[in-house]
Amino acid sequence: MKPQSIVVLGGTGFVGRHLVTRLQRDGHSITLLTRNRDLHRELGVLPRVRIVNADVHELATLARHLAGADAAINLVGILNGRRGRGNDFRAAHVELTRTLIAACAQARVPRLVQMSALRAGEGESDYLRTRGEAEALVRASPLAWTIFRPSVIFGDGDGLFFRFASLLRIAPVLPIARAHARFQPVHVGDVAEAFARAIAHPHSIGHVYELGGPEVVALGDVVRRTARMMGKHRLVLPLPDALGFMQACIGEWLPGKPISRDNFRSLGLDSAAREDGLGALGIVATPIDAVMPALLARQNLWERKPRGS
Ligand SMILES: NC(=O)c1ccc[n+]([C@@H]2O[C@H](COP(=O)([O-])OP(=O)(O)OC[C@H]3O[C@@H](n4cnc5c(N)ncnc54)[C@H](OP(=O)(O)O)[C@@H]3O)[C@@H](O)[C@H]2O)c1
Repeated sequence: MKPQSIVVLGGTGFVGRHLVTRLQRDGHSITLLTRNRDLHRELGVLPRVRIVNADVHELATLARHLAGADAAINLVGILNGRRGRGNDFRAAHVELTRTLIAACAQARVPRLVQMSALRAGEGESDYLRTRGEAEALVRASPLAWTIFRPSVIFGDGDGLFFRFASLLRIAPVLPIARAHARFQPVHVGDVAEAFARAIAHPHSIGHVYELGGPEVVALGDVVRRTARMMGKHRLVLPLPDALGFMQACIGEWLPGKPISRDNFRSLGLDSAAREDGLGALGIVATPIDAVMPALLARQNLWERKPRGS
């Protein structure tokens, strides 16, 4: 495959960092567009990676940065809007995708790889609804598109095991809303590999790939398992829905929004793949136990290390 010039939106986060490293190994040149380059300078030291400040919601800016590129990858996504700003999901998922498609057309960029999520377009959450609307725009576009729909993604610094680990470190009892919701956690390295293969192989054009790992697990079990991997004895308390909803209402006001009403609505649907997207791309899914125990143990060691050593 000929190395390509790729512009990535939303590439400074958890998935983006893994993806950029993977794409760069294939010899591609990558331009990462971010709202604040100063926060992500370390990514700019990778060979053939350029990190640029840009307002990705502005058509002219986007078209200018896309000029001469072979492909765009859109990883922008939010799990929570700002309080009282109902349009945040629409702006980040739908309007941004619309602008990106127009900018690709203006800059004559033929290829778009779009990140979405399992169950996009289903259920009652703004998150999933706007994900579905963004997918519809991509499918209707004249671009050579590929869409990825992962379940929750695990790995170094994830928002699942690492997030629960930080809560379990301080809380002897953890009440969990929607503890029966089922997920199929997929490894971030496998997700990055799927994107890299999509860029390399034109047969992925026009396909939607659902990405899940080898296991389907309930949310409550994820938390219990995280505690076990950390060597901690913790009580995980599944909440009935009425209390779970109250927890979500309160969670919206807490720093870092551990849970919101919209998250609660998303959790009303199981996030398990109906087809094997990784397998279709020739990727063998990485098990949770092959990765997470070592990562969490390393995290524990860091936290126990005395300051200054
Ligand atoms: N992590 C998961 O378990 C999971 C599961 C399914 C789907 N996904 C989707 O995969 C994508 C990447 O996830 P992630 O975990 O890497 O997310 P992340 O760590 O939160 O990173 C999200 C990226 O999006 C950019 N971004 C956020 N809000 C934005 C806005 N309003 N306007 C412009 N850019 C914005 C940020 O870039 P800057 O701050 O640099 O501008 C950041 O790099 C997201 O679309 C997410 O919804 C993730």
